[in-house]
Amino acid sequence: MAIPYNRRTHRCGELRAADIGREVVLAGWVNRARDHGGITFVDLRDHTGITQLRFDPASAAGPHDTARTLHNEDVIAATGKVVGRGEWVNPKLPTGEIEVQVSAVDVLSRSDPLPFQVNDDFEAGEDLCLRYRFLHLRRPEMQARLRLRHAIAAAIRAYFHEHGFIDVETPFLTKSTPEGARDYLVPSRVRPGTFYALPQSPQIFKQLLMIAGYDRYAQIVRCFRDEDLRADRQPEFTQLDMEMAFVQREDVMNVVEGCVQRIFKEALGIDIPLPLPRMTEHEAMNRFGIDRPDTRFGLELQDVTELVRGTEFSVFREAIDKGGVVKCIVASGGDLLTRKVTDGLGDEILGIGGAGLPLTKVAQGAGGLEFATGIAKHIQPLAAQLCAQVGAKAGDTIFFMPGALADVCKYLAHLRGRLGSIMKLVPEDKWNLLWVIDFPLLVWDETEKRWFSTHHPFTAPLDEDIPLLDTDPGKVRDKAYDLVLNGTEMAGGSIRIHQQAVQKKIFGLLGIGEQEAKEKFEFLLDALRFGAPPHGGIAFGLDRWAMMLSKSESLREVIAFPKTQRAVCPLTNAPSPVSQAQLDELFLSVKPLPKK
Ligand code: AMO
Repeated sequence: MAIPYNRRTHRCGELRAADIGREVVLAGWVNRARDHGGITFVDLRDHTGITQLRFDPASAAGPHDTARTLHNEDVIAATGKVVGRGEWVNPKLPTGEIEVQVSAVDVLSRSDPLPFQVNDDFEAGEDLCLRYRFLHLRRPEMQARLRLRHAIAAAIRAYFHEHGFIDVETPFLTKSTPEGARDYLVPSRVRPGTFYALPQSPQIFKQLLMIAGYDRYAQIVRCFRDEDLRADRQPEFTQLDMEMAFVQREDVMNVVEGCVQRIFKEALGIDIPLPLPRMTEHEAMNRFGIDRPDTRFGLELQDVTELVRGTEFSVFREAIDKGGVVKCIVASGGDLLTRKVTDGLGDEILGIGGAGLPLTKVAQGAGGLEFATGIAKHIQPLAAQLCAQVGAKAGDTIFFMPGALADVCKYLAHLRGRLGSIMKLVPEDKWNLLWVIDFPLLVWDETEKRWFSTHHPFTAPLDEDIPLLDTDPGKVRDKAYDLVLNGTEMAGGSIRIHQQAVQKKIFGLLGIGEQEAKEKFEFLLDALRFGAPPHGGIAFGLDRWAMMLSKSESLREVIAFPKTQRAVCPLTNAPSPVSQAQLDELFLSVKPLPKK
């Protein structure tokens, strides 16, 4: 009789010494099969763990013959009795005290030879892992990651449900929802020549729901952005998206903090103290050079512009004369910062567009602290004063960055991150959460000579800054809030504009003329005319939560079926060409690629 695999008595990670003597039914994948002096052992695996099956020809010859034909990843069901392992206990396995003496086995399906083994952690190339993703996903570490992701999502769902939020689905086939990336377009067959855009976020729809009186909305939803990919960016990703009516910033932030606490507790069993710290964008840029600072370590940026203002050193001089600044980072730990390392860091700065990395080391001279290497000879007279201001001691290295403030921030933020890891200053088990608030509403783009929204065009300005919209738009701060964890942006949101006149003014500043505003956002402007409550919300990057909490290196490790850095899915081969008939139906033709 076939083994009733649909009536498994246990999962493969469950049996313990207390179960000795029981008859069990197990099913799973052959993790490894070994022949030991006539007895065959099979490690049977499922998502809960591994149980050792013992096939002894003396007690059951048929099953033993079958066991000898088994290969890794064959799927089998087995019945037998749980027995103790005696002196062969394996303390590394939770089931290591027992094994199952098999009395019958069924091979449910065989596996072909594998492109890579599931039972080791050998790093097969990423393309291969993604091509055979179903195998890669069998690995225990991938199972753990996706289950952690589920725990996070479950905690979020429960939290928002308990706090009176309702889940409303918003459309995927829609119009452009501006979040600063390119849209993915979907051609319409019934209206040839027209296109839907996949949503970059449900932003406008959730605002419409507030205007429609739904009060509290939360949805776990897929978003689509055609942008340059990085380890923490995927073209399709998942947000917990929420919105609340009749709220101020504090209200949204309080609800979010409760949710963050719940996520940490349920996913990792960690208590996060509230309230979370806050920092203005201005302070973050000033101290860390970035609006999502990793506050787990020091190495803060220090401004020495005034101190070096009088210097003859042309590199500093020119930057200051052009209205720029000179900032620096002081790094202790001379041993790790060898010449080779600092040269490498200089090359990295060149690689991201910088002009170089002037530095010097501090040494103890006869008359006090002095500069010893690098640009020492250019700034030697400033040694005592400069070291006193920045708190440098003998043995420290000072990295300088002269230039326009935005560039200086960019290069020093990169340097700070690299120094943090080179000097091993980043504690692994610290969870530094931080709100960043009061961003500039608009940023000026010198190339395009126009303003862009720092967040999106629906973000409300701070009330006290509204008059500046007419006089000095660059100085207007917004009612946005970003949640940062160990230097990664985990969530972003804001209080929205709920008055049509203000929304029109912002569109105007962004160079969106009346006609364009009407074409793109008429429905929103309309809604704002018919009684819009003050409202605000936020969206969490669910993939980023899973990545950070599982300490993974990339979003790809926490998404079941992700895309590569080139936005390709090696498993399905998407994107791929379509047939001429499909194109004809859509009235589309594909231009030949330009010759390289
Ligand atoms: P924002 O664009 O800041 O805001 O997105 C919110 C959060 O989504 C995550 N995220 C991403 N995750 C993976 N891959 C991507 N390409 C990607 N882009 C963003 C980040 C980010 O913090 N509508 C607004 C929210 C609002 O204002 O309520 C929005 O989408 O974790």
